[in-house]
Amino acid sequence: LEFRLAHLSDPHLGPIPKGTVFKDFKLKRLIGVISWKVRRHRLFQRHIAEAVRDDLKAHAPDHCAFTGDAINVSAVGEFGPAREWLESIGSAGEISFVPGNHDAYVEIPYAIGMSHFEPYMLGDMRFDGACMHMGGATAFPYVRLRRNIALIGLSSALPQSLFKATGSLGHEQIQALPELLKDLKSRGFCRVVMIHHPPMPGITDRRRALLDDGELSRVLAEKGAELVIFGHNHRRSLHYIEAKTGKVPLVGAPAASMVDDGRHNPGGWNLYTIDRDKGTWQIQVTERSWDGLTGGVVTTGEYFV
Ligand SMILES: [Fe+2]
Repeated sequence: LEFRLAHLSDPHLGPIPKGTVFKDFKLKRLIGVISWKVRRHRLFQRHIAEAVRDDLKAHAPDHCAFTGDAINVSAVGEFGPAREWLESIGSAGEISFVPGNHDAYVEIPYAIGMSHFEPYMLGDMRFDGACMHMGGATAFPYVRLRRNIALIGLSSALPQSLFKATGSLGHEQIQALPELLKDLKSRGFCRVVMIHHPPMPGITDRRRALLDDGELSRVLAEKGAELVIFGHNHRRSLHYIEAKTGKVPLVGAPAASMVDDGRHNPGGWNLYTIDRDKGTWQIQVTERSWDGLTGGVVTTGEYFV
């Protein structure tokens, strides 16, 4: 029986609540709010995020992977509405979330910030090496087992300096991966790795990259994975890592709420149909995209990885 996994990323939900800048002043956040008011609010539209969400739900996937950037400037007032939006998609057991750089835009206490996403980031398998990445109660990597699929959640979201959209996993998270990937493979699971930032050097420029993408891609080349999914670039993309055990597909999702202006990939999501045939995993990608002309969400691509 096939497993249908939905992949959603970067809705950058607005609006940014009034008074955000003054409640807990940080220069980076002020610049983020200005950039939202000048440019970004036109690019990321709530009604598109909602149409995309409704289309995703209409497909009734078995599970949904959400690769971060739910919000914009990690303001206190953004987390509650984002949590409500997550709840409108499904329960915490049905959605696995990994945070993006805009969810950790500046430092904010875990209890009033990232804890809103906690139920969506809790693993159900204990193993050695998981670490507290964000100063909270949530350990990364986390693993969720759904039928014969293992969802591995990584956090690349740590506050970065001004004008940087980088991210980092850190040694502890990376060190926990080889043994984990090996163990899950030996137990026959299809290993799906979720991360916000592109997992390999060269997919984006260094100002926006995962700082330890070299280390991560080396682990993936060594131990393999059946699928790695990410967001951050607001572009659909497909790359491969040549691993000892075969190719590792890296699939980038568009920003869920992006306008259809002819310059960006319009908002959308991916459906991964995962099946096992004669001992090998078959993964089909169906691209669903917002169509600005009709105001609907349609299939714009279909391929096997
Ligand atoms: Fe991002």
